[in-house]
Order: sequence, then C-alpha cells, then structure tokens
Amino acid sequence: MTEMVMFSAKQYDRDGFDAANASFGHDITFLETRLELDTVELAAGAPAVCVFVNDDVSATVVDALATGGTQCIALRCAGFNNVDLDAAARHGIAVVRVPAYSPNAVAEHTLALILSLNRRIHRAYNRVRDGNFALDGLVGFDLAGKTAGVVGTGKIGTIVARLLWHLRCRVLAVDPVHDPHLVELGVEYVELDRLMRDSDIISLNCPLTAESHHLIDAEAIGRMKQGVMIVNTGRGALIDTGAVIDGLKRGRIGSMALDVYEEEGRLFFEDRSQQIIDDDVFARLLTFPNVLITAHQAFLTHEALDAIATTTLANVSAVLAGDECPNAISAS
Ligand code: NAI
Repeated sequence: MTEMVMFSAKQYDRDGFDAANASFGHDITFLETRLELDTVELAAGAPAVCVFVNDDVSATVVDALATGGTQCIALRCAGFNNVDLDAAARHGIAVVRVPAYSPNAVAEHTLALILSLNRRIHRAYNRVRDGNFALDGLVGFDLAGKTAGVVGTGKIGTIVARLLWHLRCRVLAVDPVHDPHLVELGVEYVELDRLMRDSDIISLNCPLTAESHHLIDAEAIGRMKQGVMIVNTGRGALIDTGAVIDGLKRGRIGSMALDVYEEEGRLFFEDRSQQIIDDDVFARLLTFPNVLITAHQAFLTHEALDAIATTTLANVSAVLAGDECPNAISAS
C-alpha cells in the first residue's frame, strides 16, 4: 500500500479512483486544491503525488516535493508539458503518465466541436429554447469535399483524420512520423506550410513542445485560407491567442473551437459563474459568435476516467515496487 496525495481532485476523479483502487489498496488523499508552491507542503511524507494538466510541477515545486519525500509524480493525463522533467531526474523522482486512456474520447470531442461550430448548434440550441426560430446567421458548410488538415497524427490525431475522412473530407496531415494506415486510406502527409495554405479546417492534435509553441501565430494565420476553421483540443499554447483574436476580428479566421487555452490554469475546472473574469483576452474570445469553447473536457468519458484511474494506480505500484514502468517519462 502506498500513500498518495492527489491534487486538483474532482468528484469524477474520486469516483474513478475509488472504484479502481479496490484492486490496488493504495491510501489516497484527495485534495481539491491545485499543486503549486503554496500548496506543495500538503504532499509532505507521501511517496506518490498525483497531478493533472494545470498543476504546477515546475522546478521549484519539484524541489519542494523532493524535500517532502516524493518518489513518484503520477500524471493522470497524457500531456506532461507542465512538469520539469530535468528537475525530477535530478532528485531521482520518477514521472509517470497515462499515455493513452481513450484517444477516442478526445477525437470524438474534436469532431463534436467541428460539427457543432460549423452548423452553429450552440447558437441554435439557445435560440430555440428562447422561442426564436429564425435561421439567420446559422448557415454552415458541407464538410464533404472540404480539405481538413490534422497537425499531429498520433493516437488522437489518427482517429480525428479517420473520422474526417469518413465524412468525405480530403485529409492533409503533418507529423514527422507517417502513419502507413492513414496513407493507405488516402490521407496525404504534407509540409506544415501546405496544410496551413490548403485547409478549410485545421485541427491541432500534437503535443505542446518548444517547437510547437504558438504554431498558430500571426504569420501562420496570414498563410491560411480566408474563413478557415481552427480547432484546438491539444494544448492552449499551440495557439497565440492574441493573434487569433486579431484574425477573428479581421474575418480571416471564419470560426474557432477550443477545448484548451493558454492561460486555462487560472480559469478551467472550477465554477466561476459568480465571479468577474479578469482575463481580458479570454473575455474577448467569449464575445465572438463564431467561437465555441469547452473547458478542457475532451477527455471526459466514463471509459477514459476508468482507464486513467487504473493505469495511474498501476504506474504508482510499479514505481514504488522498484519495477520497470512502461509509462515512465524520462528527461530528454
Ligand atoms: P501521441 O504522442 O500519440 O501523438 C502526438 C503526435 O504528434 C506524434 O505522432 C508526434 O510525432 C506528433 N508531433 C509532435 N510534434 C509535432 C509537431 N510539431 N507537428 C506535428 N506533429 C507533431 O499523443 P496523443 O495521445 O495523440 O495526444 C496528443 C495531444 O493531445 C497530447 O500531447 C495532449 O497535449 C493533448 N490531449 C488533450 C486532451 C484534452 O482533454 N483536450 C486529452 C489528451 C491529450
């Protein structure tokens, strides 16, 4: 049995982990608070710490975790851009993650955003409930025959590309690694520049790295088709938010759907409906009728939550038993 402190824990996390833990028997303390320098002492004495996408696992926090005796940082997500891996390696702290819990969940949410945004379902829903049955402003386009560009064809992007292909889009892809099954299907791997120029829809499904940071910036937007649809279910900082706001204002970007946002750590996963949003950039995004935002919920299916809990607990068991853990991330 290992003592594990879980930060940023919501009820759906507790439900999933309590059920899965029946087979592992770890001693889990669920904390609603986010991990950051001010809260790190809550992990003192626990060999395992479990974190999510917006917990702060930067070098200073890792140093403090090491002082408190942490041996394993268990991410209950796939992305690990919020963790200073070098700092963890310096202290001999293992970092483990859940590389694939349900790529279908994220891919299906990406498709839901594309379809909802295109056919203005988010606006139609409110109109009809309000007794407004007018159709002005709800004109979409046929997806069939359009060009969709998928940036990153890993576990999630591959499914996004397939779904779009089945909707009879021409699908372009960018990834240093080419998936032969997608090529066989008819997906065309191209340079990023060509994808930006030719796509009617651009879906971001790559990880956030130094290379992909602000992949969509003013210059990239300048190369895109007039009226392009941009969809980001990857990580917020793949997009320069100021640049897309400018692109939306000028009408260059036709519509945009986001499940992630650069500064989401200060907003997402909490009910802030009684507060004033002090992030003016985000508040501006909310004013566009052609922008659809969900608050990092692409992963949120029962299947994904079950898989996240089981894999995370197995990761912690392996690390603390001194076994090889296939889901360990090493510093580059
Ligand atoms: P993966 O590791 O299976 O695939 C990522 C792919 O992106 C790889 O094929 C890699 O070669 C490619 N890639 C890396 N850098 C690239 C670049 N600069 N340009 C083009 N391709 C590049 O990862 P997976 O599972 O498909 O997840 C992708 C990302 O989705 C994660 O890193 C994470 O940030 C995000 N994600 C978002 C979730 C949400 O709830 N919104 C949930 C899970 C993941």
